[in-house]
Amino acid sequence: MQLCLREGVRLQVSLDLWSSSAYSSRGMPEANFLKLCQTRRSVRRFSDRPVEREKLELCLEAARLAPSADNGQPWRFVIFDDPAKKKALADAVFTGVFLASKHFGEAPVLVVLLIKESLLINRAGGWVAGVQFQLVDAGIAGEHFVLAAAEQDLGTCWIGWFDSRALLRHLGLKGHGYRPIALIAVGYPASDRPSGEPRRKPLAQIAFWNCPPR
Ligand SMILES: Cc1cc2nc3c(=O)[nH]c(=O)nc-3n(C[C@H](O)[C@H](O)[C@H](O)COP(=O)(O)O)c2cc1C
Repeated sequence: MQLCLREGVRLQVSLDLWSSSAYSSRGMPEANFLKLCQTRRSVRRFSDRPVEREKLELCLEAARLAPSADNGQPWRFVIFDDPAKKKALADAVFTGVFLASKHFGEAPVLVVLLIKESLLINRAGGWVAGVQFQLVDAGIAGEHFVLAAAEQDLGTCWIGWFDSRALLRHLGLKGHGYRPIALIAVGYPASDRPSGEPRRKPLAQIAFWNCPPR
């Protein structure tokens, strides 16, 4: 199957990736999707093994398919897999109080997630509905990316702790209507995934049927 991601960029999706046993005969991931959610963990240390472009392209395709308010699709992904360019990015954004994130510069790939701000959807949404829809949209697309990575045995970590102003300067985007949302580190995990359940609140604390949260 060949997917056209963008003019001039064609992605050969190997059929066996999509038609793997992860999908039932009804084409639904079902229990496998829950398993993916249960086993995905943030990965902060990576092996040197390079990440195949095809895998990253599948993650991007999953992100591209995400839903968004008014189908605005505000997300933009900038992928740094060139070691020198990735290092320059890491040096620019993991400085000062953000030095705590410096180790993410060792990840084989750093993905920058931005939104192209729309006055109408973002500001009007914020004012009238009280929700900044474009931030919601970016979160959904980013997590599509992350889960697609997990399905392909790649480790990821969302990174919120970086200098977003320095990022805009570094990319030459200052004043061009972009807003950084997060970075995502991607690579093969340096060690096995921790076993056991992820640390999460019980359902009773987060879900309420027919009544407000207590
Ligand atoms: C928006 C967002 C920002 C995050 N920023 C960071 C970060 O800057 N550094 C970090 O080590 N982890 C970061 N994380 C990862 C969280 O710490 C992690 O998802 C959480 O502790 C749950 O662990 P798990 O992902 O392994 O299930 C971030 C996660 C999200 C969703």
